[in-house]
Amino acid sequence: MGKLQDKVVIITGGAGGIGSGMAMAMVKEGAIVTIVDLNEETGREMEKELQQHSPKSMYLQANLLDRENLGQIITTVVEKYGKLDVLVNNAHASKQKLMEDTTQEDLDLSFGTGFYPTFYLMKAALPYLKETKGNVINFASGAGLAGHTTQGAYAAAKEAIRGISRVAANEWGKFGINVNLISPIANSPGVEAWAKAQPEYYEAVRSKIPLGRFGDVENDIGRVAVFLASSDSQYITGQTIMVDGGSIMLH
Ligand SMILES: NC(=O)c1ccc[n+]([C@@H]2O[C@H](COP(=O)([O-])OP(=O)(O)OC[C@H]3O[C@@H](n4cnc5c(N)ncnc54)[C@H](O)[C@@H]3O)[C@@H](O)[C@H]2O)c1
Repeated sequence: MGKLQDKVVIITGGAGGIGSGMAMAMVKEGAIVTIVDLNEETGREMEKELQQHSPKSMYLQANLLDRENLGQIITTVVEKYGKLDVLVNNAHASKQKLMEDTTQEDLDLSFGTGFYPTFYLMKAALPYLKETKGNVINFASGAGLAGHTTQGAYAAAKEAIRGISRVAANEWGKFGINVNLISPIANSPGVEAWAKAQPEYYEAVRSKIPLGRFGDVENDIGRVAVFLASSDSQYITGQTIMVDGGSIMLH
């Protein structure tokens, strides 16, 4: 029996990067994972890999910017598997720009892929999470916590996600629902693109990681996601868990 045996999990942005690492770690612990992603090609490839460990796992194509279709993601999964145990709001797209160059369009992209899907998926999932005493795992960033330059649109959405996560932890504790955040650092296609665009910034971040390396999407971030999705973390809620090699030490 795995730590997440037969738990039904949704992971947004699960076709690549940290999302796919968490999906792999979870199926190896017995979870049935639905990865929701815009990218159909990587989504289908990942679906095959996940099904080798968990035959019922699936890929669901969706653009999280389509706000009116977000509820459908939750109902599709619940109709198929009969319940929902864990919601992981991982997807987030944004552009790096100085504050003075940041436009409404940049804010709309960051809030539209990060904050709004997190908010509306949590809302749509609530009735089902009440039934399972389930878990929500949201995603924060050191960019928001530390206010990294060129990350205005991204940092704002990430801190908004931390805000609603703490509110939900307070409001939903009475239902036995835990709401936590991971603030990661890990090698992913998103980070590789960023490293190419801003190599000096990337090196500055890497050189300040006490553990000296970028994390692995499955073995570093995925394992913490397994912990937060399991009963081992049942007395933890409203917390931002820094899975960043010690880059930011909260106190
Ligand atoms: N990688 C890091 O070091 C790091 C650091 C801090 C925070 N984070 C956060 O961790 C999470 C995962 O990061 P990552 O680096 O793996 O990201 P990534 O950019 O590598 O992957 C994101 C995934 O989301 C999907 N996606 C993007 N827009 C979408 C949309 N509109 N609809 C549906 N799917 C969409 C992409 O296709 C992709 O599969 C994000 O919330 C990110 O902000 C990552």
